[in-house]
Amino acid sequence: MKFFIDTANLKQIEEARDLGILDGVTTNPSLMAKEGITGRENIMQHYKTICELVEGDVSAEVISTDLDGILREADELADIAPNIVIKVPMIKDGIKAISKLHEMNVPTNCTLVFSAGQAILAAKAGATYVSPFIGRIDDINWDGMQLIHQIAEIYAIQGFETEILAASIRSSLAIVEAAEAGADVVTCPLDSIMGLLKHPLTDIGLAKFLEDHKRGN
Ligand code: G3P
Repeated sequence: MKFFIDTANLKQIEEARDLGILDGVTTNPSLMAKEGITGRENIMQHYKTICELVEGDVSAEVISTDLDGILREADELADIAPNIVIKVPMIKDGIKAISKLHEMNVPTNCTLVFSAGQAILAAKAGATYVSPFIGRIDDINWDGMQLIHQIAEIYAIQGFETEILAASIRSSLAIVEAAEAGADVVTCPLDSIMGLLKHPLTDIGLAKFLEDHKRGN
């Protein structure tokens, strides 16, 4: 399973990268705005900086919602760096754009996916990644993780090659559950990744080892 970090914060990207486990980055317009990155030129420059920090895939989201606009933005974003993946919303023109980008061998991430039907369309269109938003489904009292199970089963039965990118992951437990459910990728905030390190028995065990070592010397 691949680990992506879901942020536009450069320090956090570096911290995850330095762990040696980072496979890529996902961003979205809200995450860019959170870092105060506004205006087309600044946004493009920020993507460039992120692409220089990490070797893996960096999802850059289009703002247009019509086919021509999405393809124009995709063209500009793809020019930034070879590891850019074009993030396209699950809308009619988004699916058309993903099909065309697939024909041109441009990698895509179909975002804002909330149902298995949408995931089937994304795969049929040839999306590289499909991003079901787990946390946001949980927010409305449905079972986000169940959707990952369902998509994983459908993709396996149908032989779809699109990778399942579990998004809107907000806890370390959700990372583990997404792995169990068959996600190919999880994208999550830094604190959820770091939370995987934690176990009280590790801390107790390490303290004891160090104490015994000191006593032995
Ligand atoms: O990857 C999608 C993610 O950024 C959305 O997360 O927590 O805003 O639902 P959240």
